[in-house]
Amino acid sequence: MEKLAIDGGTPVRTKGPIVETDYYTDEELESVIAVMKSARIRRGTVTNEFEKTIAEKLNVKHAIAVTSGTTTLHIALAAFGIGPGDEVIVSPYTFVASDSCVLEQNAIPIFADVDPVTLTLDPADVERKITKRTKAIIPVSITGLPDNIEPIMDLAKKHNLYVLEDAAQSVGAKYRGRYEGKYVGTVGHVGSFSTVTGKILSTGEGGFVVTNDDDLYEKMWGFMDFGRKKSLGGASKYHWNLPITNYRITEFQSAVGIHQIKRLDFLNKKRIENAHYLSEKLKGIPGVTLPPEVPYGERVFFYYVIRLDPEVLGSDMLNFSIALASEGTYNLNYLSTTRMMIPQHLEPVFVNKAGYGGTKCPFECPLYEGKVEYYKGLCPVAEKACDEVLWLASVHPLLEKQDLDDIANAVRKVALNFIDKKEKGIAIDYTTDEIRAKL
Ligand SMILES: Cc1ncc(COP(=O)(O)O)c(C=O)c1O
Repeated sequence: MEKLAIDGGTPVRTKGPIVETDYYTDEELESVIAVMKSARIRRGTVTNEFEKTIAEKLNVKHAIAVTSGTTTLHIALAAFGIGPGDEVIVSPYTFVASDSCVLEQNAIPIFADVDPVTLTLDPADVERKITKRTKAIIPVSITGLPDNIEPIMDLAKKHNLYVLEDAAQSVGAKYRGRYEGKYVGTVGHVGSFSTVTGKILSTGEGGFVVTNDDDLYEKMWGFMDFGRKKSLGGASKYHWNLPITNYRITEFQSAVGIHQIKRLDFLNKKRIENAHYLSEKLKGIPGVTLPPEVPYGERVFFYYVIRLDPEVLGSDMLNFSIALASEGTYNLNYLSTTRMMIPQHLEPVFVNKAGYGGTKCPFECPLYEGKVEYYKGLCPVAEKACDEVLWLASVHPLLEKQDLDDIANAVRKVALNFIDKKEKGIAIDYTTDEIRAKL
């Protein structure tokens, strides 16, 4: 057996770890130059065109381009009228933005557990968490996998709740069944997307919401632009009919976004091909489970994630990623980001109920009639997933076959070495204080 690089062997790859990269062409470049030459950089006709392109592609009535996939979530909750005392059901297996948006409206995130295979909200647990204070559900189609949306929409209808689909990682994925052919993010009352660097579509920073509801559209628009009314134009006076802010995107980002949206199918095709290639190369490795497909939708791939079985491999995910990093394919700097998830309900803000202005508001607030605690054991399925699911690599279109081969070879080498060590009773501990400090 080939010796691991971390044990003094030769690394699989020496030309540097594989990193996320955006895919742009000369078209993006030229359109950015055109914006610069026009000297009209603030939100205007290019952004209107971007929104039209999004709405046409995703087959929805309205789209609004916003500063990020975080502020998109905020304008949606604001438009729903979510406020103090309200509860919103959220996923614990996601990026912080999917639940912190609830706090932005002084409401309470209530975590429901996820399905152990898909890592998207488990409708049965969502149902258990509904109270008379619940106002909305935020399903997250994590890594590009469609949510189990039908039972969630049924629950929403039964209990009169809004559904905000956080589709930041899954633009282009589609549903099957009752919503056959509809894009993920277009079935709930509002769908939210991110175009931050590294996502399937990139404008550097940015995001957009989509909806078929005229009223929600007007409200989101107003919240995004100082309470203005879209119908009265960008220079109209402010209308303070709800607390508002400024989440306007620039024409630069929209100019890039137009080309990105037009290229969406191509970008996803490349990502799916890369993911399938990896799956082919990785199949059959003991202790390593490959990304799932689901019967209720057609997935895309933002990230390629694998599940590691600590029993079979004789060690945990942290040691596995340190060994992978030594093989030259995994960037250890990713440890501190979403690449190694922390269940959201165990973030200090929740465990400590750290609220605004040094208070425990909104968690403990006279307007909140419920009682909420966040603790280990609240969402056991998500907690276990956070220990075992490794965000192995972005599968962006610019990856070459050699990159994919290197990733697969490194995973196979580390897994087989770990199993060998386990059989021989050799303990594995590559962690250091410096590495733990990154977590
Ligand atoms: C699931 C999810 N929701 C929301 C966001 C927030 O998007 P942004 O970084 O554009 O604010 C991200 C990613 O960054 C995400 O992965």
